[in-house]
Amino acid sequence: PGLATYDPGFVNTSSCRSAITYIDGEAGILEYRGYPIEQLAESSTYLEVAYLLLNGELPTTDQLAEWTHEVTYHTFVHENLKQFIQGFRYDAHPMAMLMAGVSALSTFYPEAVQIDDAENRQLQITRMIAKMPTLGAFAFRHQQGKPYVYPDNGLSYAANFLAMLFKMSEPEYKADPRLVQALEVLFILHADHEQNASANAVRAVGSTEVDPYSAVAAGIAALYGPLHGGANEAVLRMLRRIGSTDNIPGFIEGVKAGKERLMGFGHRVYKNYDPRATIIKKACDDVFEVTGVNPLLKIAQELEKIALEDEYFVSRKLYPNVDFYSGLIYEALEFPPEMFTVLFAIPRTSGWLAQWSELITDPEQKIARPKQIYTGHRTRQFVPIGQR
Ligand code: CMC
Repeated sequence: PGLATYDPGFVNTSSCRSAITYIDGEAGILEYRGYPIEQLAESSTYLEVAYLLLNGELPTTDQLAEWTHEVTYHTFVHENLKQFIQGFRYDAHPMAMLMAGVSALSTFYPEAVQIDDAENRQLQITRMIAKMPTLGAFAFRHQQGKPYVYPDNGLSYAANFLAMLFKMSEPEYKADPRLVQALEVLFILHADHEQNASANAVRAVGSTEVDPYSAVAAGIAALYGPLHGGANEAVLRMLRRIGSTDNIPGFIEGVKAGKERLMGFGHRVYKNYDPRATIIKKACDDVFEVTGVNPLLKIAQELEKIALEDEYFVSRKLYPNVDFYSGLIYEALEFPPEMFTVLFAIPRTSGWLAQWSELITDPEQKIARPKQIYTGHRTRQFVPIGQR
C-alpha cells in the first residue's frame, strides 16, 4: 500500500534540483556552473573553483583576494584537535582520522548548528575548506610518526598542503612549482561530481538540519568505501600485479572471462572517455618530468590501448575513468596509497559544501526519507522466551 518506485541504488531517481555540476555521460562532458572542466583545469586555481561552486559565479579579483585571505586565515586548528589526532593508534588509517577530525570540529564550533544564518554558514564553510588540508596533513604525519607541521600562510592552498606533509622530512623542502600545479589541477578535477554517493550522503544527513561538519563527516564516510574513493589505489595494485606489458593480453583475457575487473575503467554515468582522465593523463607528463617516469605508466598506457580496441570494452562503453591515471601521479608525488582517498576528500569538500548550501536554501527540500518494499512477516503474537 502506498508503494512508489523500487529503485535500489537510486539509478533512476533524481533526488534534488541542482545548478552546480552538469554531466553528459554519453558525450563525456563535465561542467561546474556551466564552465567546462577543461577550461577550469587549464586556467583556474582550486580556491577560485571552490568559490565558483559555492557562489555560482567566478570571483572578481577583489572577491578572490578576500576569499583566499579568509581561507588562509582559518587554516590552523585548535591545539586540542591536534591532541585528538595524536590519540589515534600509530597505524590508524588517515581517512578515518580525517573523518573523526571533521566530526570533532563541530564540538569546537557549536554555533555551526545555526544553519539558517547565512553569515554563520559562510564562516563554517570557510573554516572547513581551510582546515581540511591541515587535518589531512596531521593524519599523514601521525601515521608516519613525524611531528606535525603547522600551516604556512604565505603559501598557496596546494603548496601549503605539500609543505605540511613533507617539510622537515627534508629540511630544504620546497615543493617544485610544477608539482604544486599538478596537485592544483587534481584538486580542481575532484571538486564536485553532482549526486555521487558521498554528495548524496551529505545531502541525506544534511536534510536533517544537522550542522555542516557532521554532514561532511558523513560524506567522508561514504568516500572512504572502495567502490567510491578507493579505486585509484586498486589500479596501482593491479598494474603492479600485471608487472610487464607482456602479461597484458593474459590479464585482459581474465577480465573478459569475468575473473576480475579492469580497475580504473567504466563509470555509472560516463559511457565515453571520462573528461577528467584526459586531463590527468596530460598532468602525468608534467609530473614525471620532475619526478622521473613511473615505470607503471607504460603498462597503464598499453593496457588502455589494448582495452580501447577490444570488442568487450567497446561494446560495453568502458573507458578510462578519473582513477586510471591519478594513482600514478600520487605515487610519483610520494603519497602512500592510504593517502589517496584523503587527496580526494580535501578538494571534494567544496563540492559537498556547495551541495549542502543548495540543499539548506532550497525551499522544496525535505528530510531524506525513502520508502521501502517490506518483505518480512505481518502481525504475529509474541511468544514468551520459555516457549520458543
Ligand atoms: N572491467 C571489466 N568489466 C566491466 C568493468 C570493468 N572495470 N566495469 C563494468 N564492466 C562490465 C560489467 O561486467 C558488465 O558487463 P555485463 O553486461 O556483461 O554483465 C557491464 O560492464 C556493465 O557494468 P555494471 O557493473 O553494470 O556498471 P555500473 O555502472 O554498475 O558500474 C563501476 C560502474 C564504476 C562500478 C564499474 O565500471 C567498475 O566496477 N569499474 C571498476 C572500478 C572503478 O574504476 N571505479 C571508479 C569509478 S570513478 C570514481 C568514483 O566514483 O569514485
